[in-house]
Amino acid sequence: MAAGRHFLQIPGPTNVPDRVLRAIDRPTIDHRGPEFGRLGREVLAGIRQIFKTAGPVVIYPASGTGAWEAALVNTLSPGDRVLMCETGHFATLWREMAGRLGLEVDLIPGDWRHGADPDAIETRLAEARGHVIKAVCVVHNETSTGVTSRIAEIRRAIDRTGHPALLLVDTISSLGSIDYQHDAWGVDVTVAGSQKGLMLPPGLSFNAISDKALAASANARLPRSYWDWQAMLAHNPGGYFPYTPATNLLYGLREAIAMLLEEGLDQVFARHDRHAEATRRAVRAWGLEILCADPREYSSSLTAVLMPPGHDADELRRLILEAFDMSLGSGLTKLRGKVFRIGHLGDFNDLTLAGTLAGVEMGLRLAGVPHQANGVAAALDHLASQAQGAAADAPRRATA
Ligand SMILES: Cc1ncc(COP(=O)(O)O)c(C=O)c1O
Repeated sequence: MAAGRHFLQIPGPTNVPDRVLRAIDRPTIDHRGPEFGRLGREVLAGIRQIFKTAGPVVIYPASGTGAWEAALVNTLSPGDRVLMCETGHFATLWREMAGRLGLEVDLIPGDWRHGADPDAIETRLAEARGHVIKAVCVVHNETSTGVTSRIAEIRRAIDRTGHPALLLVDTISSLGSIDYQHDAWGVDVTVAGSQKGLMLPPGLSFNAISDKALAASANARLPRSYWDWQAMLAHNPGGYFPYTPATNLLYGLREAIAMLLEEGLDQVFARHDRHAEATRRAVRAWGLEILCADPREYSSSLTAVLMPPGHDADELRRLILEAFDMSLGSGLTKLRGKVFRIGHLGDFNDLTLAGTLAGVEMGLRLAGVPHQANGVAAALDHLASQAQGAAADAPRRATA
């Protein structure tokens, strides 16, 4: 049993803050009673602010994979063509699911170092005569690579073709960490999960639904039962659910929404941007390579770091876990052993980042990975300079 807190620095599930843990630690109540109705109405209204939508958001007692399935089965019919982009492991899993559900997948291949390419999407849609593509599916933040896709640009690319395809976006590792705007960016279904930027344990997932997606669901013929939006939307106005909800996770969600709004979403995003930038400075100072190849697509939730040839990322992670009680993300499928991933999202501050990077730097030394031992210093330099700016602004803010 190690003393002190375990450092859970995988890119989700993230560390659950004490406030959320305390909120969850309460008696479970009657999910058909009046107190539950108040809780349900509060979280169903509050969560819209996090998605930046005026429309409905449904909440499933399920992991993110369930919300992927819900997005597809509520909007599409057997044999429909969907356009997907191979940005990494999670985009690949979503594509495989679409195939298993009986959809025809048009794939834009990728190298797992770039986000979905708006130009390639525009070209594919323009080439597809007769509007046969029913949906474009994109992972906003590819958790396996630390690469984001530029959703607003993708929306504009779709609009330029005049193609009516729905836009379905996975924000499982970006919601509550990286700016995301369901309504303003014209997204039709946004998929999210509880265990990352929302700072909750795993077990809740979400679909934010546009009017266009709702209209599509009236004619969609993929079989669905548990995931059916209609039953959810019929019960949700009273704050209730068609089946037993994850009551205690909803207590936690109420608290997490309050925390995000108290800090202010813009400040939350700026904090994630700052920690991501400090992390990249550390990686460069170590002399290692960031997997994400395009600075416009850097993720503020996590950084995937390439190992030098001949060195195994899993061995490095094993040593770091044993010596410093810190978990880092592994390389998934084709990146196995080649990268490790540093999660810097959720309930996370400057000193959590300092500890995390210190653990990595010491681990590189233990594992005999060639590096310059000044990554932590580079990160601290960035954090301190930013804090100095914030401190200088503080009196002005106080008197403003
Ligand atoms: C981007 C992304 N999509 C989908 C999933 C799958 O979600 P879950 O494992 O909660 O089912 C994950 C999980 O990490 C993810 O990061």
